[in-house]
Amino acid sequence: MSINEIERALRELRLSGIADTLNTRVMQAQSSQQPFLETLAAMLQDEIDRRHSRLSERRFKHSRLDERPTLVDFDWRFNPKLPRQACFELHTLKFIGEGANALIIGKPGTGKSHVAKAVAYQATLHGHDVRYVEADTEFARFALCNAQEQAALMRAYVEPDLLVLDDLFLARRISDASAELLQSIVHQRYKRRASIVVTSNRIVQDWGKYLRDATMGTTILDRLMHRCVMLEFEGKSYRLKEAAARIALNAEASA
Ligand SMILES: Nc1ncnc2c1ncn2[C@@H]1O[C@H](COP(=O)(O)OP(=O)(O)O)[C@@H](O)[C@H]1O
Ligand SMILES: [Mg+2]
Repeated sequence: MSINEIERALRELRLSGIADTLNTRVMQAQSSQQPFLETLAAMLQDEIDRRHSRLSERRFKHSRLDERPTLVDFDWRFNPKLPRQACFELHTLKFIGEGANALIIGKPGTGKSHVAKAVAYQATLHGHDVRYVEADTEFARFALCNAQEQAALMRAYVEPDLLVLDDLFLARRISDASAELLQSIVHQRYKRRASIVVTSNRIVQDWGKYLRDATMGTTILDRLMHRCVMLEFEGKSYRLKEAAARIALNAEASA
């Protein structure tokens, strides 16, 4: 077989990870008279790497995350009161195995979404099925869907190993339909012992006010808090810091 034929055979066998690096591996083997097993091992590793990165790419797309933040690019000195240890504890993903939830509550711009997304992204890298949802927008969208679409969406909220509800109660009061949707999601995930990470600018004591009635608030909170870590994000807004830096830069440029 010529190298072109080998490449074609590899693609037919769906070994495109090997096919892609074949030329390099052949050169490498010839250049150093590498033992056959060593070359074979390198080629198999290329295929494995390719499949892993494809899988995690697919999981990332499926999660609907819009970015890949990490805790490495987070400046812990900016808001020293943030619960750093608890954030890293979440990042270990142990809570997913335990079916526990996390409530990240605090002021705007303090990094709640950043941390929630970093944890969710880490979960996709570790093989978890994740769904990220901007709560208000998504609930409004859900209301406009037909019954069949709603059933499919409901599965997408309930089935993943981890659901992130970002910025819950952003607009304070939510519609009765949204409240019922929230209740149903929390209830069904509770039964499956499947984790939810919620971020919100609103303190938990006020949630009852944003829902149809206090009873509904209690039912939702009871289930969310049964197995739950609370993270309080106290501090100043990083968004304002960034905006201030931009203004300073513009002033410098026009001076
Ligand atoms: N301590 C921090 N270090 C680095 N970037 C931060 C920090 N806190 C917030 N940010 C960034 O500031 C922006 C706003 O943070 P975000 O997580 O959206 O805040 P929140 O969800 O609490 O309103 C994001 O781009 C985020 O990456
Ligand atoms: Mg946010």
